[in-house]
Amino acid sequence: MNLHEQKKHLRNDLKQRRSLVSADKRKQMSQQIITFLYQIDEFNLAKRLFCYISYLSEVETTDLIDAFLERSLSLSVPKIMSKSEMIAVQLKNLSDLEPDKMGILTPKSNQPTTGYFDVVITPGLGFTTTGERLGYGRGYYDRWFTNNQVGLKIGVAFELQIVDELPVEATDMALDMIVTEERIIDLRQQL
Ligand SMILES: Nc1ncnc2c1ncn2[C@@H]1O[C@H](COP(=O)(O)OP(=O)(O)OP(=O)(O)O)[C@@H](O)[C@H]1O
Ligand SMILES: [Mg+2]
Repeated sequence: MNLHEQKKHLRNDLKQRRSLVSADKRKQMSQQIITFLYQIDEFNLAKRLFCYISYLSEVETTDLIDAFLERSLSLSVPKIMSKSEMIAVQLKNLSDLEPDKMGILTPKSNQPTTGYFDVVITPGLGFTTTGERLGYGRGYYDRWFTNNQVGLKIGVAFELQIVDELPVEATDMALDMIVTEERIIDLRQQL
């Protein structure tokens, strides 16, 4: 199997594994992940955040997004523009969102947020304890990270998404931290 086939195979496996989590369990584990996020200084001090809007079996970010909007801080969420481009769009209000073709809540505006992001909360299908990430297969986050300035790249995942190793390419961007319902993995301490 070549690298792309390996990635594809793993994606299917991990997607299946994550889909078996019950809605209750997902909510509970997502809540614990959010509790851990609030233990991270950089996250608490963040004034400009980029965070995905959870969909189906992903770690749920709704509460986090609500809290950030309530505090009137700058929150941006992803918008897919083409087969290769994702942009961050600032969200002022939940009513600025509409479901896209897939049913994923997406900002109506096409205005990209520019400048520095203190923290980015990144989804994915698989992660390693060394910060490697397997996403959904379009390289959206890899490209976005190369084009934007970010203080701290945090991956959020359930423990069942942590694997021993992942096939990686030169374009795969590693994360600074991974937060699961069981632990905070800080890769910066290894420097
Ligand atoms: N910065 C980049 N420039 C050009 N091509 C890239 C870049 N980053 C990734 N790619 C390409 O995009 C394709 C998809 O990347 P990859 O398999 O890593 O997706 P992914 O990280 O799992 O997806 P996503 O970030 O969308 O969840 C690969 O062929 C990869 O080589
Ligand atoms: Mg990648």
